[in-house]
Amino acid sequence: SVSQRVFSGVQPTGNLHLGNYLGAIKRFVELQDRFECIYCVVDLHAITVWQDPVELKKSIREVAAAFLAAGVDGDRHIVFNQSQVSVHAELAWVLNCVARLGWLNRMTQFKEKAGKDRENASVGLYVYPDLMAADILAYRATHVPVGEDQKQHLELARDIAQKFNNDFSQSIATNGFEEKFFPLPEPLIAGPATRVMSLRDGSKKMSKSEPSDASRINLTDDADQIANKIRRAKTDPFPLPETVEALKARPEADNLVGIYAALADTDAAGVLDAHGGAQFSQFKQALVDLTVEKLAPITAEMKRLVADPAHIDATLAKGAERAETIARETMNAVKDIVGF
Ligand code: ADP
Ligand code: NA
Repeated sequence: SVSQRVFSGVQPTGNLHLGNYLGAIKRFVELQDRFECIYCVVDLHAITVWQDPVELKKSIREVAAAFLAAGVDGDRHIVFNQSQVSVHAELAWVLNCVARLGWLNRMTQFKEKAGKDRENASVGLYVYPDLMAADILAYRATHVPVGEDQKQHLELARDIAQKFNNDFSQSIATNGFEEKFFPLPEPLIAGPATRVMSLRDGSKKMSKSEPSDASRINLTDDADQIANKIRRAKTDPFPLPETVEALKARPEADNLVGIYAALADTDAAGVLDAHGGAQFSQFKQALVDLTVEKLAPITAEMKRLVADPAHIDATLAKGAERAETIARETMNAVKDIVGF
């Protein structure tokens, strides 16, 4: 049977932020001792909305640099960019023919991203979740660390895997593969900060595409920028609550406490033990200090890596070669199963 394997990706769409770090990249690092890990710069996903070609190339290297700077080990594990392994696009086509229109119609992210002018959204944006399913299933990954916003897409990937296994059960057996050809990938969404919210608007998630730079902490921000953004973060006028229950009714406080908890490797209760009852001015200063302490080394290392594009390109090329070997084997099997 397939060993325990992790797959996840981040889009090279600029402005990598604290939500990407806490919801995804930090977890990528933590999983390396327990799993065989494959981490992908998902550039095919990025072009579902317009990307300037020069910026895209820069952003691909930046995401790869963020992985490595945060502590992803590109020698022990696999780091690559999606467009370099053609199986992603090839398998996505087969999965487009397995997924049902009604399933995709239920995807809330498409509705959010397409906005009011839905007729003018790219077809790629619509079938994006099928490509994401292909990303995961090409490696027959068993676990997928992502933020809360990807939960629905992961459920779809499971549905697609299951339908493929059912629709082709006879052919899977005839060709001598295991009955559950595609394992149903498990989401790894747990702990604090699985959904980091905007610092300016507690009802929106922190996002690369939000126009207000003050809404997010970018992984490229320096200590002064981090301090300014956290000091200006929207809060209510009351001191920090003493209990997690009271925290839940206060979204902005909940967000800042969640960020603190994730950065300090504790939980909300642990943060409130130390800071419950504090004024926000005080707590925000503690959060600034912790955020700078944790992000500054990553920011500095990203800068160093980005200054040497040849090294990043070599890492990605080596990763793509190793990814290709695994994905091609899956694709060859899928071809046999489908009848090609
Ligand atoms: P974005 O949503 O900012 O464009 P991606 O779609 O590339 O970023 O997501 C990369 C990873 O970061 C995914 O696992 C996603 O779930 C996670 N992520 C994105 N935004 C947040 C957030 N605000 N809080 C927690 N995790 C997030
Ligand atoms: Na996202």
